[in-house]
Amino acid sequence: MDICIIGSGYVGLVSGACFAEVGHNVVCVDNDPRKIEKLQRGEIPIYEPGLEDLVHRHVSANRLRFTGSIEDGVDHSEIVFIAVPTPPQADGSVDLSYIERVAREIAVVLKPGQYRVVVDKSTVPVKTGEKVDATIRRYNRNAEFDVVSNPEFLREGCAVPDLMNPDRIVIGSASQRATDLMKRVYEPFNAPILVTDVNSAELIKHAANSFLSLKISYINAVSAICEASGADVEKVADGIGMDKRIGRNFLNAGLGYGGSCFPKDVKAFIAIADELGVPFDLMKEVERINDSMLERFLKKMRDALWVLKDKRIAVWGLSFKPDTDDVRNSVAIELVRQLVEEGAIVTAYDPKGMEKAREFNLISDKVKLVSSPVDAVDGAEALVLATEWKEFARQDFAEVKRRMHTPLVFDGRNLFKTDTMREMGFVYCGVGRP
Ligand SMILES: NC(=O)c1ccc[n+]([C@@H]2O[C@H](COP(=O)([O-])OP(=O)(O)OC[C@H]3O[C@@H](n4cnc5c(N)ncnc54)[C@H](O)[C@@H]3O)[C@@H](O)[C@H]2O)c1
Repeated sequence: MDICIIGSGYVGLVSGACFAEVGHNVVCVDNDPRKIEKLQRGEIPIYEPGLEDLVHRHVSANRLRFTGSIEDGVDHSEIVFIAVPTPPQADGSVDLSYIERVAREIAVVLKPGQYRVVVDKSTVPVKTGEKVDATIRRYNRNAEFDVVSNPEFLREGCAVPDLMNPDRIVIGSASQRATDLMKRVYEPFNAPILVTDVNSAELIKHAANSFLSLKISYINAVSAICEASGADVEKVADGIGMDKRIGRNFLNAGLGYGGSCFPKDVKAFIAIADELGVPFDLMKEVERINDSMLERFLKKMRDALWVLKDKRIAVWGLSFKPDTDDVRNSVAIELVRQLVEEGAIVTAYDPKGMEKAREFNLISDKVKLVSSPVDAVDGAEALVLATEWKEFARQDFAEVKRRMHTPLVFDGRNLFKTDTMREMGFVYCGVGRP
């Protein structure tokens, strides 16, 4: 099928490459000319395992191309996906101006007799589909189209396998013609398809991300009880997670959730509920617990080091989670910011996130970025693990200890084994562990 994707970021670009992989012809559109130039030169602007190979193969096979023109994309494609940002506004509600703009831009390029399915893949508040529909009609009275909601559930860091083997595909549609076309788009993926009305599909995405955030805040609240009682949150999580009704995923205590999705989606769900007159206090508590985790962690550091000013601190990890270069709203970045604010001398290393952290001015010039985990700990009075990249667990800890000034480790993601670290002579402090 001929598919156009407007917005070539984490969702749009990876979706485009995966649609090409199953045999569709894909045009990816973006209004950032630098991004399009890079992609046309064969450079991949984001890091996502497996993406580069997919893009190169399908560009060579003429199944995937990039353009700055919405008209070009819409002209050549019966299915038009929208995958532009939906950032939070100051009050937590969603900034829908990117979506509205794309709806207008699609409207003005739609030609008479050219039926199109306009598919919203961005995460949007319930009832956005109705507004996209009304906007397109307002700007083009003769447009022939249907609006469909198709929320995306990929996880950064494993976006390619997530898109190729999804748990489910949600199609929110009021039109049989659009539903049939969407089923053809997804047929090659062999995944369960749930067809709903548009509003339910939109709500599914916010409800799903909020539930996952709730699981994280739940175990973080339990971790505080573990710390107060001497229990081990990892064992508690294993015991809870072995119950099939609960599952072990998203029961990892630590610094809390961050990134470009969970914080904004929780805030959005709270705002949506407030606007609909059904306040969602449970999610407000989820957010409060999450916000408290970094301060709890810093307090532990102050308890051990007394003052942080002038202390040499190594930080491992800047990206908001492992296997991605995405540093947007990363708790690790916020941790570094607060350490610098308290006068600590920070040296940091991240396998993929350092370039973007500098490019977007997310960390102060005072932070020294180095090219290996071991270089980061040189002379350090403490090491902080902020993102659980697997390579951090594989370090030569005898060498790490030799290089450190004092062998003090704060593990913000419970990546290391308590006993092993202590046997090696580290003073080890995790989250919710004795
Ligand atoms: N990143 C994730 O893990 C993830 C997962 C599921 C859903 N989502 C949702 O998907 C949406 C996109 O997220 P993302 O992470 O891919 O964002 P992103 O910032 O990585 O990419 C968005 C792209 O859209 C482009 N863009 C903005 N306005 C445009 C316009 N008018 N015309 C053409 N291109 C335009 C931007 O230049 C950018 O390249 C958001 O609603 C997000 O909540 C994200």
